Amino acid sequence: MTNEQLQAVRRHFIQYANGYIARAGAMRQMMELKREHCAAVARNCRALATSSGWGKEEINTAEALGFLHDVGRFPQLEEYKTFRDDESINHGERGWQALRESELLTEVDAELREIILNGVRYHNAHTIPDDLPPSHDRWLKLIRDADRLDIYRVVLDAFKNDQLEEHPEIVLNLSLEGDPCPELIETIRQKIPPSYSTLKCAADFLLLILSWSYQMNYPAALKIMRERKIIDQFSEYLPVEQAAVGEVLSELRKEIEKS
Ligand SMILES: [Fe+2]
Repeated sequence: MTNEQLQAVRRHFIQYANGYIARAGAMRQMMELKREHCAAVARNCRALATSSGWGKEEINTAEALGFLHDVGRFPQLEEYKTFRDDESINHGERGWQALRESELLTEVDAELREIILNGVRYHNAHTIPDDLPPSHDRWLKLIRDADRLDIYRVVLDAFKNDQLEEHPEIVLNLSLEGDPCPELIETIRQKIPPSYSTLKCAADFLLLILSWSYQMNYPAALKIMRERKIIDQFSEYLPVEQAAVGEVLSELRKEIEKS
């Protein structure tokens, strides 16, 4: 897409998010966090697409998808006050629906519109659907990586700044007490993507998001994980002295370092 189309998407997105933020009440800070997350994911999309050698207009489309990928979070928070899809709605599906009904993509060509719609719809799918048009695949893979990289930033910030008592939504309202569950560790060691519904405490959630190391699609994403020392940073908040935890972390570290 052209620079002008990207600017239009960005403008529409900010208006859309600010509309929800203006009436958010107690959810205001979480809505603002999502608006900042979308902007950061857009930057990650641009960085990943650029370092993967994409063309200028493709990079613009990647950035637009970054802005829009989480539009479903705003109605989800407004209506259900949670980020837990398994206790409310699938926010990818809800975002897909919101985009089709809104002005957000009015200035975008039909084919790019479809790419963005599928990117939004499946960015959070447990696994990538295998019946997507092949040309859509690389966009979906890019948004999944870009999103996950920024989730690391958001969760780490919340731990570092002690925000979790006040905003437990960031760790899906899971208990800050408790050790990682052995079954979850075993699932990760078998490189099977764990399901959110199996999480019992915040430590489980941290291990689940670190297990994305096995699912990153672009080498550039793993490079960013190395540069940001993601495993080391999260290790501060995990019981690394427990053998199973220490071992799964060192396997994840190897995965990131091998690319
Ligand atoms: Fe999302």
